[in-house]
Amino acid sequence: RPRVLSGIQPTADSFHVGNYLGALKQWVAMQETHDAFYTVVDLHAITVEIDPAALRHRTRVSAAQLLALGIDPRRSTLFVQSQVPAHTQLSWVLECHTGFGEASRMTQFKDKSARSGADRSSVGLFTYPMLMAADILAYQTQQVPVGEDQRQHLELTRNLAQRFNARYGRTFQVPEPYILAETAKIYDLTEPAAKMSKSSPGGALDLLAPVKQSVKQIKSAVTDTEREIRYDEEHKPGVSNLLTLLSVLSGTSIPDLENRYAGKGYGDLKGELAEVFTDFVTPLQQRVGELMDDPAELDRVLAEGAGKARQVADATLADVYDKVGFLAAG
Ligand code: TYM
Repeated sequence: RPRVLSGIQPTADSFHVGNYLGALKQWVAMQETHDAFYTVVDLHAITVEIDPAALRHRTRVSAAQLLALGIDPRRSTLFVQSQVPAHTQLSWVLECHTGFGEASRMTQFKDKSARSGADRSSVGLFTYPMLMAADILAYQTQQVPVGEDQRQHLELTRNLAQRFNARYGRTFQVPEPYILAETAKIYDLTEPAAKMSKSSPGGALDLLAPVKQSVKQIKSAVTDTEREIRYDEEHKPGVSNLLTLLSVLSGTSIPDLENRYAGKGYGDLKGELAEVFTDFVTPLQQRVGELMDDPAELDRVLAEGAGKARQVADATLADVYDKVGFLAAG
C-alpha cells in the first residue's frame, strides 16, 4: 500500500469546511487504499503566540474532530507531532540543507511575517516549511493530501528530498502533492476573493460552530447582483463557492445543481446548503462532544499512534544521521 501522510494545525477551536473539503475528506477516503499517517502539528502551532491551555485544548479537540470525521486509529496512525521527536531532529538536518533565500521565498512566511512585522515574527515561522518537510520525509511518504495553499511547501519538500538523495545516496521517497482541483481552495463566505481561513472568523464555516450561527452565515454569504445560479469562478466567485460546497457535501455534480436551480434564486441555493451543512455537522458535533468527555481515552489513542509513528520516523532518522556523518549512539 502506498504511504500517505498529512498534518493539520491545532490553531483554532474548530476546523472549518475548507479544511474538511480541501484535505480531511481525502484523509478519510485514503485510509481505505493507503498506509496512512495523520498528525496534529502542535509544534507548528507555536510558531505564533498561543496560550498553553488553549493549545492543549485545541490539540485534543483537533484529534476528536479527526476521529469524528472518520479517521480510524485501527487503520491509520493518528498522532500528535510533538510526541515524535524525530520530526524536530530531522528538521534541523533539513534546515542545514535549505538555502536562506530559498526559505525566504515561501509565500506563506512572507504573508504571515508581513502581517505581524519582522520583529514580532518568530524564527520558527521562518523554519516552519522545513519542519513540515521533516513531517513528510520521515515517513517515506508517497502522497500528501492538502489544499492548494500548501503546494509551495510540497515543492520545497520535494526539492529537499531530491537534493539530499543526490548528495548522500537514496534516502528519501520524493513525495507528490495530492490536491483535488474542485476543492483545492474554498473561499471565504463574506469575501469570496479570499481563501477561507481560521483567521477570518466571519467568513469561515466552522464545523463545531453553533448550527444557528452557520445557517446565518450561509444565508448572508456574499454573492453578486445577478440572479442566475451558474458556476463561473471569475465573474461569480461567491455563487461558485456555494455551488462547490453544496456539490461536495451533497454528492451532486455542479451541472446537476445548475439544472436543478435553473430559474430559482440564491435564497433557494443557500437554503439547501444550510440544510445539508446542518445534517453534516449535527452528528459530528455530538460525536466530538462524546470524545471530549473522555480526554484520558483520547490521550491514550494518541499515545498509541505516536508509538507506531516513532518506529517509522526513527528508522528514517537513523539513516539520515548516519549519512551525514553523525556517530551512532550505540
Ligand atoms: P492548516 O492547518 O492550515 O490546514 C489544514 C489543511 O486544510 C487545507 N486548507 C484548505 N483547503 C481548501 N480551502 C481552504 N480554504 C483551506 N484552508 C486550509 C490546507 O491546505 C491543509 O491541507 N502546513 C500545514 C500543516 C502541515 C502539514 C504537514 C500538511 C504541517 N505538516 C505535513 C501536510 C503534510 C498547515 O498549516 O495546514
